[in-house]
This record gives sequence, structure tokens and C-alpha cells, in this order.
Amino acid sequence: MFSEPLTIADLKKRAKWRVPKMFYDYADSGAWTESTYRANETDFARINLRQRVLVDMTDRSLETTMIGRKVSMPVALAPTGLCGMQHADGEILAAQAAEEAGVPFTLSTMSVCSIEDVAEHTKEPFWFQLYVMKDRGFVGDLIDRAKAANCGALVLTLDLQILGQRHKDLVNGLSTPPKFTPKHVWQVGTRPFWALEMLQTKRRTFRNIVGHAPASSDLSSLAVWTAEQFDPKLSWADVDWIKERWGGPLILKGVLDAEDAKMAAKTGADAIIVSNHGGRQLDGARSSISVLPEIVDAVQGDIEIHMDGGIRSGQDVLKARALGAKGTYIGRPYLYGLGAMGKKGVTRALDIIRKELDVTMALCGKRDIEEIDREIIAKVGF
Ligand SMILES: Cc1cc2nc3c(=O)[nH]c(=O)nc-3n(C[C@H](O)[C@H](O)[C@H](O)COP(=O)(O)O)c2cc1C
Repeated sequence: MFSEPLTIADLKKRAKWRVPKMFYDYADSGAWTESTYRANETDFARINLRQRVLVDMTDRSLETTMIGRKVSMPVALAPTGLCGMQHADGEILAAQAAEEAGVPFTLSTMSVCSIEDVAEHTKEPFWFQLYVMKDRGFVGDLIDRAKAANCGALVLTLDLQILGQRHKDLVNGLSTPPKFTPKHVWQVGTRPFWALEMLQTKRRTFRNIVGHAPASSDLSSLAVWTAEQFDPKLSWADVDWIKERWGGPLILKGVLDAEDAKMAAKTGADAIIVSNHGGRQLDGARSSISVLPEIVDAVQGDIEIHMDGGIRSGQDVLKARALGAKGTYIGRPYLYGLGAMGKKGVTRALDIIRKELDVTMALCGKRDIEEIDREIIAKVGF
């Protein structure tokens, strides 16, 4: 029915066919009008590359480091909540695919598989993303659990002190585990492969926060709970105690402003991720790629810079690298792969991006990702 997926868009089509609507929409949505979600993708197309010819293109390398960790290409898997609802045991499968591909996997606080579950099924240290809640005792416990699981970095999310609104989730009545209303039974019943796999796992709710989230975790009660639990008073001072409690590599995620980037550099964290949460928080914020050069100029090498938002190809990774991101993260591209084909789909998403990155780099006349800088950019249209 589907031909071999050659692009991330092909994986997206397959995921739509395989994953129940409420979970597919959960991935493929942004806040309010989705203008920032769209801009993240379309702004990449406004950057033109320089085509170079008759340079030696043999023996190319995409290897680099992100916060000192060797990576086979400058791409990591971003933390995504409910990843295990795109496919049964999704976080474990994605972490294994990332490990085999030589790139970091980041587990969300709001994951289905728990920190301990993922640690048990992987060999390499994965990264753990932390949301800060008012209950600092619980936050401390999460940090300690990540330490005990030998996580390689803590990714502290700064841009979700309150929850942005995605209309599709409210219309769909998103819930986990799925409810048994006629609408939900229809959505799940028309996706039999997904349902059969889901019946074979016991992992169907937020297993990092069991006992802390409300027993009924439909989106509206979760939104109420989130509003109560997530800390709207989170401040730069909190970064200090989290850094101290964690004691390992720290990445600050969700910086989109040059002033904030300068503040972040002063915390002594190891990296920042220029990000607008994939357009899921402040609708109307600028795209991550358009802000990146300003932030790079503002911090002037004081802190390593990563970015995410809108990457749909290896070309996009190269453009981000050229504009100063040492590393990038993909969210939806691997979720589509996971929903479409499980672990094989995540591997496929990474293979697609790797191939596109490699060929684009060569056609720009470069052999080593470490040589990539603004020189390969012909024009930036934003
Ligand atoms: C379905 C979904 C769930 C997400 N959940 C989280 C999360 O739990 N924690 C977090 O820091 N970011 C979360 N994000 C944001 C991603 O980490 C990342 O910033 C974003 O997906 C990058 O944009 P892209 O999807 O266009 O690649 C989520 C994104 C998506 C699409």
C-alpha cells in the first residue's frame, strides 16, 4: 500500500494511517493557530546553500560531539511526552534505535516508559529531560532516579511554566490510557495493528509520575493538574540548585531570546537548546532557526548551542550547523517513524536524515561536518 519511505514526509503519511487520530494529532499539532509550528518548518526553506563544484568529496565524516559526547552526526532525539502512545513501548524502542545509530536519546518526564524501564533495556547512557514542579521533593527524586539510571545529561526545560493550548487535543479528548467513549473506540478500532501491539504491553500511562498525576489522566484533568503542579515561579536561582543536585552535564532547553541566552550562559550549564517547544507553547514566537544566529552572536562562544524545531531533513541539520548550532534535535520526525514502523521507523528516520546531510554537505563542497560554518550559506531570507 505504501512504497518504501524515502523522506520524513513519507513516514508521516504512514504514521497517520497506523496511529489513532488523538495520538497522531497530539504529535502533529502546535499551540493555537499553529503559526510558530509552521514557521519552524518553512523558515528552513528560506535559507539557500552555496553549490560548489570540483572539490574532492571523498572520505566524508559527519562525526562530532554534543557536550563532549561523541555522536555519529549532530542529531539527538528530543524529549517527547507520550512517545509510548505512538507505538507500544515507544520510548524503549526509540532509545534502542538511537543507541544503534550512535546519537543521544532524551527521555521526557512525561514519558510512558519510566526512567528505570529505559535504563533496563539500553546499554548507553540516555539523557533525561526534567520539568520543574512545585513539589521540589518530587523533582529531587526524579533527579536522583536519573542519576541512579546513569543518565548522561539532564535536559532542563525552561519554556513550560504553564501549558500552551493545542486545540486538536481538546477536540479529540486526548487521554491515556484511551477512554471507552464511542469516538475513542472507533479511533482505536480503526487502527488494529497499533491496538494489538498496545494490548501486549503493560506500559500505557505516565510511568515516571505514577502516584503524582491524577488517577484519571484525560487531558483536561491533566491540564488542571499541570497548572497546579508545574511551577510558574521557576527562576534562574532554581537552575543553580538543580545543577548542584544533579552534579552532571546540564542542558537548558527552550531559550529563544538573546538576553535569556546570555543569562543561561552565566549559569555554567553545558549547553542551551534554542527552541520554542516545537511551536507547542507560545504561538506567535519566532521560528528557532531564525533566532539561532542572533543567539550565537550574543553568547559569543560562552556556552555550546544546540537547536530544535522544524528539522525535517538532513539539509535542515546542515543549515542549523552552518548558522552555529553544534547539535540539533528532532521531535516529530522520529515520532512519525515510530508510529509508522516502530523501532525500524526510528532507524529509518535517522538514516534518511543522515543520507540527506551527507549528500548536501558534499554538494556544498565540504567533507567534514566540523568544517561547516556560515560560509556554505548563500542567502538567508528572514
Ligand atoms: C508530541 C510532542 C511531545 C513533546 N513533549 C515534550 C516534553 O515532554 N518535554 C519537552 O521538553 N519537550 C517536549 N516536546 C518538544 C520537543 O522536545 C522539541 O522541542 C520539538 O519537538 C522540536 O520540534 P520538531 O518536533 O519540529 O522537531 C514535545 C514535542 C512533541 C511534538
